[in-house]
Amino acid sequence: MKNFLSRKIIRFQIALLVITCILYFLQDPTIEEEAFMDMYQLSEKYGYKIQNHQVITEDGYILALYRMTQQNDTPVRLENGKIQSVLIIHGNMEPPKAFMHNGHKSPAFILAREGFDVWFGKNRGNGESRKHQWLDPENDKEKFWDFSIQELGEHDVPAFIKYIVTKNEGSKVSYIGYSQGVGQFYYAMSGGCTGNETMREFYRENINAFISLGTTVKFFNADSFIMVYSSIFLPLLQFLSNTFGIYELKQARSDFMVRNVCMKFPWICLIPNYLLTDSSLEINDYNAVRRESAKPHGETGIRTLLHPAQLSQVDKWQCYDFGLERNRLQYGQDHPPEIPIHTIKDIPIAIYHGIYDRLTHIKDVDWLREQLNHTIAFYGEYELGHTTFKTAKNMSYFEVDVVNVLKAYAKK
Ligand SMILES: *[C@@H]1O[C@H](CO)[C@@H](O)[C@H](O)[C@H]1NC(C)=O
Ligand SMILES: *[C@@H]1O[C@H](CO)[C@@H](O)[C@H](O)[C@H]1NC(C)=O
Ligand SMILES: *[C@@H]1O[C@H](CO)[C@@H](O)[C@H](O)[C@H]1NC(C)=O
Repeated sequence: MKNFLSRKIIRFQIALLVITCILYFLQDPTIEEEAFMDMYQLSEKYGYKIQNHQVITEDGYILALYRMTQQNDTPVRLENGKIQSVLIIHGNMEPPKAFMHNGHKSPAFILAREGFDVWFGKNRGNGESRKHQWLDPENDKEKFWDFSIQELGEHDVPAFIKYIVTKNEGSKVSYIGYSQGVGQFYYAMSGGCTGNETMREFYRENINAFISLGTTVKFFNADSFIMVYSSIFLPLLQFLSNTFGIYELKQARSDFMVRNVCMKFPWICLIPNYLLTDSSLEINDYNAVRRESAKPHGETGIRTLLHPAQLSQVDKWQCYDFGLERNRLQYGQDHPPEIPIHTIKDIPIAIYHGIYDRLTHIKDVDWLREQLNHTIAFYGEYELGHTTFKTAKNMSYFEVDVVNVLKAYAKK
C-alpha cells in the first residue's frame, strides 16, 4: 500500500515537472517595455509631447482632452505650414493610449509624422473625465452614469470640437472615430433622436472629413458572441443593474494577469477578442497585441453597453429604449425613434471596413452606405478585424488610405 502510494506521488511529481518544462519553453520571456509606458512616455519615445487640456460640457461634465505637440510645445504643422487638427475618439472603456500601441505604425504617430495636429478626447466617466461640476460619480451614481452614445454625441463631441477650433487658427477639424467613437459621431451629425438642425449645421461648419473605423452603428447582423446571445445577456445585465444599483462599469484588468499571463502567453488573452470582436487573430502585430492587453480600461455608464445589446435585436438604428414610461417623457412616444442618419449631408465620410470585424457585419455596413450614399467620400474593405484597426501587422489602410483622405480635405 505504502509502496503504491509513493509510486503515485512520484508519477504526479514527474507530470508536474513535465508541465512546468513545457510552460517554461512556451512562455515568452521577453519584456515588452512599451506595454507599461503611459501615453506621455510613449509620445516622448516617438518624438512628441502630450499637453493636457480640459473642456466642460453643457450638462456639466469636465472632460480631459489631449493634444500631441512637438517636443517644444509648438503645434505640429503640415508641410505648407498650416494647422490641420484631427480629433480621435476612442472605443468604449479604452484610453487614448490605445492609438499608440503599434510602435511606429500607431495611428497617432503616423498622423503626427504626416504633419497633423492630433487631439484625443476622453468621453465622460472615463479616467480623467470622471468629473462633473455638481454631480459626484460615487454619491450621485444614478445621475452621473446615466448616459449612452446619445449623451456622448450630443454633449461631449461638440465640447471637444468647439475647444479645438479656438486653438488651431480657425481651421475645420477632421474627426477619426473608432467603434463607440464612430457611433456617437453619426448620432451627433444626425442631430440626435429629433434630427435637430442646429446640431447638424454645427458639423457642416466645423468638420471637413470623418474617418469611420470599426463602424458600429446597426448591430443587427453582428456575429460577436455577446450580440448573438444578447437575448440572454440583455435581461441579465438589466436585472443586475436594477437589483444592485450598478450604473458604472469599471475596469476588470488585473496587473497579475497582465504580467504573468498576457505578457508570457499572449494567445490566452486573445480568446475574448476572438469571441467578441475579431474572427481572425493572426492579422495582428504580436507586440501590439501584448500592449493592447496591458492597457488600463476606462470606466463607463452601463447604458453604453445596454444600447448596443438592444440594437442587436432590431434591424434598425434607433435611440435608447428606456421602457414605456421614460420613452414617453424623453421622446414623446411609446417606442424609441429611429435616428435620422440619412439626413447627414455635406460632410465627406470615409468608411474602412474590416472583413473579420465581428461587431460590424457587411450587411449592416451596406445599409449604412445606402443611408449616406450622397456624402460618402471613400469606402474600402480590408483584411482587418475590429481591434486590428489599432493593432494590425499591416497598417497600410491607415498609412496610405486614411492619410490620403485627410490630406485631400485638409485646409489648402
Ligand atoms: C437643438 O440643439 C441646440 C444645440 O445643441 C440646442 O441649443 C437646442 O435647444 C436644440 N433644439 C431643440 C428643439 O431641441
Ligand atoms: C449611390 O447610389 C447609387 C444608386 O444606388 C449608386 O449608383 C452609386 O454608386 C452610390 N454612390 C456611392 C458613393 O456609393
Ligand atoms: C497590406 O494591405 C494592403 C491593403 O491595404 C495590401 O494592398 C497589401 O498588399 C498588404 N501588404 C501585405 C504585405 O500584405
